Amino acid sequence: MIAGNRPINYLRISVTDRCNFRCQYCVPASPFAVIEHEKIARYEEILRITKLACELGITKVRITGGEPFVRKDIFSFLEKLCAIETLKDISITTNGALLTRKKIKKLISLGIKRLNISLDTLDPVKFARITGRDRFQQVWESIFTSHELGISPVKINAVILRGINDDEIEDLTALTLKYPFHIRFIEYMPMGNSAVEKQQQILTGEIREKIESRFGKLVPVERNFNDGPAKKFQISGARGIVGFITPISSHFCSECNRLRLTSRGALRPCLLNNYEKDILNPLRNGASDDELKQIILATLKKKPSFHGLTDQSFKDIPISHMTSIGG
Ligand code: 5AD
Ligand code: SF4
Repeated sequence: MIAGNRPINYLRISVTDRCNFRCQYCVPASPFAVIEHEKIARYEEILRITKLACELGITKVRITGGEPFVRKDIFSFLEKLCAIETLKDISITTNGALLTRKKIKKLISLGIKRLNISLDTLDPVKFARITGRDRFQQVWESIFTSHELGISPVKINAVILRGINDDEIEDLTALTLKYPFHIRFIEYMPMGNSAVEKQQQILTGEIREKIESRFGKLVPVERNFNDGPAKKFQISGARGIVGFITPISSHFCSECNRLRLTSRGALRPCLLNNYEKDILNPLRNGASDDELKQIILATLKKKPSFHGLTDQSFKDIPISHMTSIGG
């Protein structure tokens, strides 16, 4: 599948809008409703859409939420997903709180070798403040158990906000000295009315300056084919990698190779643009495989060349919040 001049080979699937955390930067500040169960795509439905997308060229899938591990029977779904032969690469984004040694072993036995775990702070008290849940210890253990059992790479996602965790940029980065983790600093995206204010947003330049003044000049790491949008660096001599994800300061739209499937069964060509195309209801109403493939292809035609999220639009963009799309 091609959109513009980019081959689209990556599908991100949000399996649920529900989450056991309430991260400040993710959930809306005002009360919000979860999606009714019957409107959420069932596993068989997601699998059918995924198989068709694979026939059109998708080779890489990431499972997101909400929090994927809060959905019932997620392992039976993952097992069937991993059985799709043309899928070369399956990974999961999780907050890590529900991962146990047994579950991580099971993931590895299914062939899932890569995990992204969110961790914004090394301070348990601050962790509870940011996520709304006192679960630092579980997440920390998940990170180390994943590493120990052979998940590679373990990627750690951190959203840095001024006055909240900007004093921990260096300490988070220092983890890469000792461990082969990828620490990825993600610029806060103003989505769906979170409680975060404009002045709390910190862009990559500032984060990078702090890191370099402590650890010296960052050394660029060569990109692999199929790499995501993170710009990758290393502290000289470190085991791990420091990545910057820069949707605001330097958008990577022209390289974006993704398509998204939301938990309510809509295809989205862009995270930061409200266009979506319902594929679940046509499927429920008996559409053929060919008709569903046409819906997938039609969605890609709408892939924008730029997300349009600029300084001016901070707080104004009526984008659905992350938990309903999958980050
Ligand atoms: N801006 C940037 N990143 C976000 N995430 C969630 N909400 C936002 C936001 N508004 C990230 C989290 C998590 C991933 C699922 O998405 O850090 O790692
Ligand atoms: Fe936090 Fe991720 Fe849950 Fe959002 S979906 S509240 S970022 S754990």
